Amino acid sequence: MQSFTVKVLLHWAEAPLYWVGAFTAAWVSVWFVYRLLLGLRIWVLGNGQLISTKLGKWAGELTRIGCVHISYSLARRGFALVLISRSQEKLDDVSKSLECLYNVETKTISVDFGSLDVYRTIESGLAGLEIGVLVNNVGISYYYPEFFLNIQHLESFINTMINVNISSVCQVVWVCFCFRSRGVVLNISSASGMYPIPLLTVYSATKAFVDFFSRGLHAEYKNRGIIVQSVLPFFVATKMTKIRKPTLDKPTPERYVAAELSTVGLQNQTNGYFPHAIMGWVTTALVPISVVIHLGMQMHKAQRARYLRRRKQH
Ligand SMILES: NC(=O)c1ccc[n+]([C@@H]2O[C@H](COP(=O)([O-])OP(=O)(O)OC[C@H]3O[C@@H](n4cnc5c(N)ncnc54)[C@H](OP(=O)(O)O)[C@@H]3O)[C@@H](O)[C@H]2O)c1
Repeated sequence: MQSFTVKVLLHWAEAPLYWVGAFTAAWVSVWFVYRLLLGLRIWVLGNGQLISTKLGKWAGELTRIGCVHISYSLARRGFALVLISRSQEKLDDVSKSLECLYNVETKTISVDFGSLDVYRTIESGLAGLEIGVLVNNVGISYYYPEFFLNIQHLESFINTMINVNISSVCQVVWVCFCFRSRGVVLNISSASGMYPIPLLTVYSATKAFVDFFSRGLHAEYKNRGIIVQSVLPFFVATKMTKIRKPTLDKPTPERYVAAELSTVGLQNQTNGYFPHAIMGWVTTALVPISVVIHLGMQMHKAQRARYLRRRKQH
């Protein structure tokens, strides 16, 4: 009697289960093909043509990523360049080399983003220029991973980090785009802004701000012709990361910048480089956030211990 009831139940459930299975398999297949085609569009075909002088004659870059100024790629596309960074000497070198290599007009503005009274200088430096592309690269991180309350000169550390990593991004977008009806803004956030990174907590939080700010702004202005892209790299071999030997997952700035520029217009939030996109997907979609935070803590505790040991030896 009991086995008869089970048989009837199974028979009754057979058709719905079949359709649930078929629907799931079809959905997964369509999703997979869609992701594959999207991936090919972004990472193989790219969107190299979008950034052109049709957006405006000038491109502005706030500092560089590693030793690479995105400005070189932009100058190659015919943009005149405004370079904004701290050291006038370094700015002069880059500006001379851009003029020699690409025969483009350049302008330099030397400011320290650690202070808040630099935006009038930038505004007057940019007056009358039609800025089509803005690259917000400026950013500082910790000297070494540290517990929040152990950071030396904590008050000035917090103010500088907020001024350089947050205020500069908002203020310069305002200065450059308040009268514009089209253009592209690349705000360099960080993969550290995708989830909290212990012992780099303030840096991670400022980069999360940049990501949210960029995505919100993109939604506000995309219909008015302004694309705002939030760029979230993992490690790139630069002075900031102290990585001397580039690898596939820790590329040179040149390689990273080349990959990143072809994602503009295709992704408004991007890791900018295919291996980083895979890392981003694994750490946000596959691994629970508590595990990511725990691993970040362990990794940075080990780095901190190594740094403090080395410092003691010297
Ligand atoms: N490298 C990575 O792995 C990585 C990963 C994720 C995100 N990012 C982000 O990418 C951006 C570039 O990082 P990076 O690795 O290229 O760093 P970097 O090699 O240390 O370069 C930072 C740039 O910012 C300038 N700068 C620093 N403080 C400044 C200030 N107070 N005023 C004006 N300019 C200032 C530096 O100018 P000086 O030459 O005068 O020092 C330099 O040009 C940052 O926003 C960073 O958060 C980097």
